[in-house]
Amino acid sequence: MSVIEQSFTVKFEYKTYFTKEVFSPENEIFRNVIAQDGSKGRRKLFFVIDEGVAQTHSALIPQIKAYINKNNELLELRGEPFIVEGGEAAKNDINLVNQILQAVNDYAICRHSYIIAIGGGAILDMVGFAAAIAHRGVKHIRIPTTVLSQNDSGVGVKNGINTFGKKNFTGTFRPPQAVINDTNFLVTLSERDWRSGISEAIKVALIKDKDFLEQIIADMPLLNQRDIQAMNRLIYRCAEMHIQHIAGKDPFEMGSSRPLDFGHWSAHKLEQLTHHDVKHGEAVAIGIALDTTYSFLIGLIGEEDWKKVIHLIKSLGFALYHPALSLTEDNHHLIIKGLQEFREHLGGELTIMLLERLGKGIEVHQIDNYVMVEAIGKLCELNK
Ligand SMILES: NC(=O)c1ccc[n+]([C@@H]2O[C@H](COP(=O)([O-])OP(=O)(O)OC[C@H]3O[C@@H](n4cnc5c(N)ncnc54)[C@H](O)[C@@H]3O)[C@@H](O)[C@H]2O)c1
Ligand SMILES: [Zn+2]
Repeated sequence: MSVIEQSFTVKFEYKTYFTKEVFSPENEIFRNVIAQDGSKGRRKLFFVIDEGVAQTHSALIPQIKAYINKNNELLELRGEPFIVEGGEAAKNDINLVNQILQAVNDYAICRHSYIIAIGGGAILDMVGFAAAIAHRGVKHIRIPTTVLSQNDSGVGVKNGINTFGKKNFTGTFRPPQAVINDTNFLVTLSERDWRSGISEAIKVALIKDKDFLEQIIADMPLLNQRDIQAMNRLIYRCAEMHIQHIAGKDPFEMGSSRPLDFGHWSAHKLEQLTHHDVKHGEAVAIGIALDTTYSFLIGLIGEEDWKKVIHLIKSLGFALYHPALSLTEDNHHLIIKGLQEFREHLGGELTIMLLERLGKGIEVHQIDNYVMVEAIGKLCELNK
């Protein structure tokens, strides 16, 4: 027998910037990210923009063109920006990925060129996937425009689209070149999208940072009044915790646990059962309420703490319950299938995060379905 051993490490580094008006002429972040990438010559840029953003920020595309013009020794726009309908539809249509690949071919976008995505989490996931597979990886900059994408999905390393009726079934782990969070985008969000991403902050606070949880509780009235400073505080800390977590132990999720996915096994299933009528962040709020209630029912946390979490979620205007949680087939709750699907997606042993106390999560490998159904009943009552 003969063996050749192979072992190497690939280092990834990227920065997440927090700014305002990223394409105003005097803002140098975008150009500097590109100037410092180690390549030479003019870099070709291809933009994909969320339609919801393009419509509400009509000056954006002219601003991008002027910005590139001003920096034309370094930047070169290839093609017109590709405007794509935002929301989950973007991840359900594989043709969009093909259209981006077509553009990469047509505009001679190479591995030293950039695909820039501006939009919500769905657009970023879809474009990130296309960028990862074109030429086995074209440089990619993410400019997230929703609360959820600025504090969670856009600052991480995952991308993907939905195939076979399953969320994120096809995708890769691929760090971006940079992430640029521009607070100005947030002002045009719908009420639902303003609120939706707050649940991801509650999630990390509950499993890792009690002080952050108290800050969210204190800021709750301001968040409800759409106070941008309170939202920026929330986004910054939440993004920071996600970024730290990724670097921490298992950036490409080789293990079976996904510690930051508290409340997510049911959230993913609920999104699927409601055909995405319930948004990701809204589903996560319900998922957090459910797993917090379960944690209370099995004696992990006390009643006071349980009520505190439920009160926060409800006061922010989230629903605690959706009728799809109670859908059954052959006397089995369909939502419970989400446990199995969550395990399959990760591989290995079932690993679910629950709460040991406020600010500290605990992983378990078994869920009592009867107690989970009891928790669903409680949420149905509390939601009234
Ligand atoms: N990759 C990851 O690690 C990860 C993590 C969490 C969630 N996600 C994914 O993120 C997606 C949800 O993302 P989302 O919550 O950002 O919503 P979204 O991308 O579905 O966008 C919601 C809506 O807001 C519009 N929009 C976006 N920015 C806007 C702005 N500034 N002003 C006005 N309208 C705007 C969009 O057009 C869309 O209609 C889900 O597909 C979820 O699976 C991915
Ligand atoms: Zn999430």
